[in-house]
Amino acid sequence: MSKKKIIIGNWKMNPQTVLEAKHIIAKTKNTAQKLERTTVIVCPPFPFIPFAIARQSAKRVKKNEVKAGAQNVFTEAGGAFTGEVSAHELSDIGVEYCLVGHSERRAISAETDLDVSKKAAAAVQANMTAVLCIGEKTRDDLGEYLDVVRDEIKASLQVFPKRALGQLIIAYEPIWAVGAKAAMTPAAIHEMVIFIKKVLSDIYGQVSAVEVPILYGGSVNFRNAADIIALGQVDGLLVGRESVNVPGFVELLKTVDAINIEK
Ligand code: PGA
Repeated sequence: MSKKKIIIGNWKMNPQTVLEAKHIIAKTKNTAQKLERTTVIVCPPFPFIPFAIARQSAKRVKKNEVKAGAQNVFTEAGGAFTGEVSAHELSDIGVEYCLVGHSERRAISAETDLDVSKKAAAAVQANMTAVLCIGEKTRDDLGEYLDVVRDEIKASLQVFPKRALGQLIIAYEPIWAVGAKAAMTPAAIHEMVIFIKKVLSDIYGQVSAVEVPILYGGSVNFRNAADIIALGQVDGLLVGRESVNVPGFVELLKTVDAINIEK
């Protein structure tokens, strides 16, 4: 049996109303419950996260078809940090995944690799899975972007505990392909998957590193998703704009679920 593919929807700061948020969640859950080979995670803005969490009744836990993720978390466990949200607060309401180090956060809040690494550690400490986003700003003919990616991975995991590797996902998102017109080619994605596996195995050893899922993100849509998974050989996708476009995301989920590759 092949492992389930992982599709994460990063809603960013969308949509603007409860009505729209509930609509997107409902349609996403509806599709997700029919899938067999795909785990679907949605990361809405904080106020809408509760809609993505399984309702629990005294008698039974309602079967949930999507898992809830957050787009950010704070480095510290609690205290006088106005406007921040802790990992435990998220985990306690049922959030299972947390993005850390998204390029937009690194840009908006000038998050350093050390901050990102602390956030990843805080997330796993609170029993969530950390989805570490990494990726180069630009490409060059000399391959210096490879050094950039390697250094960023190492630095963004500097205080991450090795024993928590089972709660780590890497999302490779070349910044030039995020919010862009086109995604990276599947062949180029495949090269990066191999490179990232090598970097992880240099840090943690091959046996431990091989279990870390590697996703691709950056201008993924329902048209290019299947090729990126099948030819890019990623374990899943981090989807931005297309995850709040209901018809597109529904189609993307069905298309990805139809792929059956043994890995
Ligand atoms: P995009 O965003 O799919 O809209 O390019 C991806 C992301 O920011 O994770």
